[in-house]
Amino acid sequence: MPDLDDVQDGKNYHIGVPMQSNAFFLKGSNSLDWGMKNRLARVFNPATAKTVMLAVDHGYFQGPTTGLERIDISIVPLVPYADALMITRGALRTSIPAEMSKPVVLRSTGGQSILKELSNELVAVDIEDAVRLNASAMAVQVYIGGPHEHQSIGNLVKVVDAGNRQGIPTLAVTGVGKELARDAKYLGLATRICAEMGAHFVKTYFCEKAFARVAAACPVPLVIAGGKKLPELEALKMAYEAIDQGAAGVDMGRNIFQGDAPIAMIQAVRAVVHDREKPDKAYELYLSLKKDAARTGPSAAVPNRSRS
Ligand code: 5RP
Repeated sequence: MPDLDDVQDGKNYHIGVPMQSNAFFLKGSNSLDWGMKNRLARVFNPATAKTVMLAVDHGYFQGPTTGLERIDISIVPLVPYADALMITRGALRTSIPAEMSKPVVLRSTGGQSILKELSNELVAVDIEDAVRLNASAMAVQVYIGGPHEHQSIGNLVKVVDAGNRQGIPTLAVTGVGKELARDAKYLGLATRICAEMGAHFVKTYFCEKAFARVAAACPVPLVIAGGKKLPELEALKMAYEAIDQGAAGVDMGRNIFQGDAPIAMIQAVRAVVHDREKPDKAYELYLSLKKDAARTGPSAAVPNRSRS
């Protein structure tokens, strides 16, 4: 029985004060549904409109990649420092504790290996499984100019449509074949096609010349991959340049987990991305955190499940 005595006339109607209506903080995302925006706001930090995603999905086509041989040992300690984890469902279920609260960007295409043509992918996760895994986004590889370009765009369209039905955003990842130049002209073409086909955010590579044009012409947030392992200062400079020229963050893998001090490196990357720290300063931070970690010993490499 409802307690009718408690139903009183309210007073705080704020008559004359217009209903608040704020623009969503990510570019190109204002017209999305609430669930979609809420998931994007888990992947991107609303305070900075940026993200540091940790990419550990390399095993889906290249097996036990250096640094990812044991995800439970090498990656779990890094999770607390990432804004989101890009990972396959197999690695997630087997190696990441479900208690962690970071958003998952679920690798959702695959079906080839480094022994074969990489662009020959298919959709490799059912949308129901993405929901079951509480994915905050799904990631699809798109090979513009590759032998299976048409098929990979088809995969993107399928995942975007399935995700739109459930409110799960799609990250399009521009896979670049060895024969293609990673220049602004190519990356501009690839990223724009991904956005026009409905991707909610796009991952691509940084290029030295005219990256600002790539970022400007992509109507949704753009994050950059780290690519092959570089010396730490170079990787930090690349992240800085990318952010400076319009990237909304990084989705970095090897330049974090293949280094000597991954926990120090991810914190230095965060300083560049979220605090706009200059690369030299971020590198100093890296060196000092690395020194601290060396002092505290190998315990830093052991998963500490209470942290995530
Ligand atoms: C595979 C991917 C990888 O997740 C991504 O490229 C890895 O990041 P990094 O290049 O920084 O190791 O999307 O194509």
